Amino acid sequence: MTFDFESLPPSHRYRILASLVTPRPIAWVTTVDSEGRPNAAPFSFFNVFGSNPPLVAFAPGNKDRHTPKDTARNIRTNREFVIHLVDEPLGEAMVATAATLPHGENELAHLQVTTRPGDKVAPPRIIEAPVALECTEHSTLEIGTNRLIIGIVHLAHVRDGMMDENGYLKEGTYAPLARMASPDWYARTTDQFEIPRPD
Ligand SMILES: Cc1cc2nc3c(=O)[nH]c(=O)nc-3n(C[C@H](O)[C@H](O)[C@H](O)COP(=O)(O)O)c2cc1C
Repeated sequence: MTFDFESLPPSHRYRILASLVTPRPIAWVTTVDSEGRPNAAPFSFFNVFGSNPPLVAFAPGNKDRHTPKDTARNIRTNREFVIHLVDEPLGEAMVATAATLPHGENELAHLQVTTRPGDKVAPPRIIEAPVALECTEHSTLEIGTNRLIIGIVHLAHVRDGMMDENGYLKEGTYAPLARMASPDWYARTTDQFEIPRPD
């Protein structure tokens, strides 16, 4: 089977790519608007792209041709965000924050999660998340209706007991959820194994 992307509508292309380029990590992103009101939303067009400087990127598509999602709009305003990685107990809360709410309404308000202000940035940090990365915007590329938000990580909060001081994970302590086929499939990452590299 072959799909010719030049003759397919964007929704069809999305389905194909989002279902095939898997598993993807999920960035659960908190931001604040110009009045300091918090916002949270998940984005699986997300990854890390370097360590010097520590670079991450994620991609909120526009709501329509010219209107950014609240996350992108807030980052355009104050250039700060916190990316959380999510494990299975937080899965439903994370998905609940994908609801489309009016700008300024806090997706976290009705959830059983605890937040605390970031140490270096204004957006709140979700305490239950195994990982929270405090970031500032480096730049945003606008390509069609995609926005590729590139961020610099300033601080990584890691759940106690998960990592040693040198940054090595302790075996069996971290199993982030992975995004699978569109629209609603996920995978556990509890079945992990090693393949040693050649010398
Ligand atoms: C697991 C998951 C991953 C998602 N990934 C993306 C993504 O990469 N890009 C995107 O534009 N929307 C993505 N969405 C949809 C957004 O989370 C949704 O549009 C949300 O309402 C945006 O919120 P905001 O307007 O507060 O920024 C995803 C939804 C879920 C549940």
